Amino acid sequence: MELIRFDRRFFPFELQRVADEMVPRAKEALQSIKEKTCQGMEWTGWFDFPRQRGFSMARDIRDFQSRLDVHYDLVLVIGVGGSYLGSRAVAEALTHEYAPLVGRQGRRGSGALVAYAGHHLSEASIVELIDLLERHQPVVNVISKSGTTTEPSVAFRIIRSYMEQRFGKREASRRIIATTDPHKGALGSLAAEHGYHTFIVPPDMGGRYSVLSAVGLVPLALAGFSIEDVLEGAEGVFADLRRDTATLTAHPVTQYAVCRQAAQEAGKRMEIMAFQEPKLGYLVHWWRHLFGESEGKDGRGLYPSGMQFTTDLHSLGQYIQQGPRDLLETFLVFEESRATDSFNVERRVRIPHMTDNADELGYLEGRFVEELNVAAMEATKVAHCDGGVPCLEIRCHRLNERSLGALFAFFQTSCAVSALLQGVNPFDQPGVETYKENFFGLLGKPGFEDLGASLRKRL
Ligand code: PA5
Repeated sequence: MELIRFDRRFFPFELQRVADEMVPRAKEALQSIKEKTCQGMEWTGWFDFPRQRGFSMARDIRDFQSRLDVHYDLVLVIGVGGSYLGSRAVAEALTHEYAPLVGRQGRRGSGALVAYAGHHLSEASIVELIDLLERHQPVVNVISKSGTTTEPSVAFRIIRSYMEQRFGKREASRRIIATTDPHKGALGSLAAEHGYHTFIVPPDMGGRYSVLSAVGLVPLALAGFSIEDVLEGAEGVFADLRRDTATLTAHPVTQYAVCRQAAQEAGKRMEIMAFQEPKLGYLVHWWRHLFGESEGKDGRGLYPSGMQFTTDLHSLGQYIQQGPRDLLETFLVFEESRATDSFNVERRVRIPHMTDNADELGYLEGRFVEELNVAAMEATKVAHCDGGVPCLEIRCHRLNERSLGALFAFFQTSCAVSALLQGVNPFDQPGVETYKENFFGLLGKPGFEDLGASLRKRL
């Protein structure tokens, strides 16, 4: 079965025509990624990564796991942006919503819980995280490609100090795993000094394109997910794209990119990704990061936003139906997104029979709730389309490691093609430096004193 299908039947015909005219340029862009001749070519190591390096990296990770000689029941992932969003997308999508409360039943393989730090500067959150660590036997995976990002560095210093006090230096070193650039950055030096096991972030891929490398695979493996399936799903997409670009007619990767560009040229300013399971929120966070940081340059780019079904229909639905007509909406649909037990057996709920019909739901008796959820998405797609919002659909069969891996490969490639069509470098992020410099100035980092003084005068 095809892992990803693309549907543009609810995308206006005039925009389909504009999109079709862009297909040859999209194919050129795809070819330039494959040949590593595009803008930012030194950052294209993510393309075709599973086959080239991913599967062998997965074997190294499994080998490390088999030699890990500490007992753990919690994996703490420290990282921000591309260093944590991808693995969190998979872990949240496939974990029991009440995992910390329902015990072993809600967990995969190793049975470990996953917690996160280093993606904010909330002191309260760190205090509460330490409460959680106190009740568990943690291992820590600190992930930073640059090895110098402030948020994960601050969190890691605090957690390192906690781990050393609790376990002693020697055992703390066995419980800490670093993932970082092989050559640069403070994290690499720290790991070498303390003897942390280290996995590398390949130098030829940026953070938001790194989920299929050790960045995403190490925490997922430690938490009991099938990293092999994630890679297989991605490989399915890349294998298809490896074919001669000229023969790729109406490929979902190029179709999605050209439709987005056509929408943008028609004056759309925002893309809303609509999703039907609360657990998919982090997948959409990952998608927002990918597209926002890759495309938002030179005054261009669709602002990527999310909408959770059916919750947000009762808050944002009115705006989408009748607010400014500058929206594009993409529906991310899983035909089967079912709860499973720890043996992967499906667990389902039908609307029950009741002798009274006071709630007037008798007409739904015997139907699965999933059926209602899918119907709500279909109904909304037609309503929003009729309200003047161009709608696209990305459809997957089943929510699992394989389909999530396929979506990573699909979105990464489509995003790079889309940014190239727009004429910007998909792989840099020069705009994020401005806030960082101001932040260093205000904190008094050596070298930023003058900037700090001038900022303080303005605040
Ligand atoms: O996409 C990117 O490159 C960024 O969002 C990074 O992932 C993020 O800033 C974290 O960087 P690092 O892994 O160097 O700590």
